[in-house]
Amino acid sequence: MSLKAVIFDLDGVIVSTDEFHYQGWKRMADEEGIYFDRKINEDLRGVSRMESLRIVLKKALREYSTEEKAVLADRKNKYYKELLQNITPNDILPGTLDVLRELDKRNIKTAIASSSKNAWRILELIGLSSAFDAVADGNDIKNSKPDPEVFLLAAKRLSIDPFDCVGVEDAEAGIDSILAANMKAVGLGYASAYPKAHYRVKDLTCIDIEKLLLGRDVD
Ligand code: G6P
Ligand code: MG
Repeated sequence: MSLKAVIFDLDGVIVSTDEFHYQGWKRMADEEGIYFDRKINEDLRGVSRMESLRIVLKKALREYSTEEKAVLADRKNKYYKELLQNITPNDILPGTLDVLRELDKRNIKTAIASSSKNAWRILELIGLSSAFDAVADGNDIKNSKPDPEVFLLAAKRLSIDPFDCVGVEDAEAGIDSILAANMKAVGLGYASAYPKAHYRVKDLTCIDIEKLLLGRDVD
């Protein structure tokens, strides 16, 4: 039976913002004298800003108060937003527009489920702010991925039962979130190596729409 909706993660699936997140955290961490590298950055994929900060601060040489943590998170976000200003529709990841067109032809609903509080800003910058039937982002939720909240909210906004949805993710935390929402899970990029995903592909250019809508690899 074909699924009724496809719910996409944003960062790493529709647009690659990883490098900007890395640069933002790196600049903040260097200023604070906190060790940070690309390997640690991998653990921040898909998780919220404050959870990311908690991971970054594991290497800190002292404790930070709640107020100080808020200041550090804001500072990183300021650096990140400066870098984001440079993104354009050219930064939409390959395959995205073709997949959206194919889904539209089949009357399949689409949504975004992102942990990011910058999701709308990013969608506007890449010209896709009205390309999806619903958006759920970091401003709407209490519990970040791997909790299912953001995927469940996206399904609710589409008025489609989670069981009839497939989620597309590049992060392990995101795949866990999709599975906890009782949806089919497609793993791309980094998550294409994650065995828990039902259907795993390199990126959106390699996706088979029939397999996507079955939510599994049928070979
Ligand atoms: C996405 C990224 C994460 C990031 C999170 C929060 O899920 O993959 O790396 O930490 O969004 O982003 P924000 O824009 O709210 O700081
Ligand atoms: Mg992602």
